[in-house]
Amino acid sequence: MPEDGYLKGVVLCGGLGKRLEPLTRITNKHLLPVYNRPMVFYPIHTLVEAGIKDIMIVTGGNNAGDFLRLIGNGSEFGLRHINYTYQRGEGGIAEALGLTEHFVDRSKVVVILGDNLIGGSIKKYVQRFKKQENGARVLIKEVSDPHRFGVAEINEGRIISIAEKPKKPKSNYVITGIYMYDHKVFDIVRTLKPSRRGELEITDVNNAYLKNNQLYYDILDCWWTDCGMPETLYRATALMRKKLLREDKE
Ligand code: DAU
Repeated sequence: MPEDGYLKGVVLCGGLGKRLEPLTRITNKHLLPVYNRPMVFYPIHTLVEAGIKDIMIVTGGNNAGDFLRLIGNGSEFGLRHINYTYQRGEGGIAEALGLTEHFVDRSKVVVILGDNLIGGSIKKYVQRFKKQENGARVLIKEVSDPHRFGVAEINEGRIISIAEKPKKPKSNYVITGIYMYDHKVFDIVRTLKPSRRGELEITDVNNAYLKNNQLYYDILDCWWTDCGMPETLYRATALMRKKLLREDKE
């Protein structure tokens, strides 16, 4: 039985990936290729590399069964076992996270969106979160197109608000899809109401922690991209190719 403070990992691969139609008409977005691997391999690797071995994948939409055929028990990632659950429809990132409550239980959890790829490691941020007594920790990144993301308003080194896809972003710092929470996150998810786009928003979860003065952050020190649109899927492939070729040479 894991003790309080033990870290579990969750990879969110639900949703319908409509922004990638027709690529996602037949299959799940996270099974699409990014350079030489299916997209979902990268976020799993990010968690495993940070020392997290107890992982649940939330699948959804089309061909959810293919995750099992592809990933099996996770042995390719050095795991003994991997857990799966299924999200019906597209109720939002926070809804998908809520489905993992029985798995996370009293542990802390590191959540990564299945379409978020990075050029480095999150190990040091995870270590900081481990030492954190309670609350949440997010990783932020400066970008040129903040209106596509959750945008952090920062004042004197503190996040003072987060707005989801604002028309007039208050900064260029956005909340990446790598989130760390204590087990109270599930109580917060239960209080959420669907947003205008009909989803339970992860930004509302982060704002709830912010309200309690329990939201900490780090600035991610490597490249980061999502793969949710043709342009970003293409960019992810180019960035990953460069990274993997460089690592091959080392
Ligand atoms: O990429 C980071 C951004 O991700 C954050 O800055 C935003 O605050 C956050 O809302 C999210 O924005 P997107 O609108 O780009 O998220 P999207 O709907 O593309 O979903 C991203 C991933 O989350 C998707 O690849 C799988 C997972 N997801 C999404 C939804 C809507 C689920 O597992 N279930 C869902 O219902």
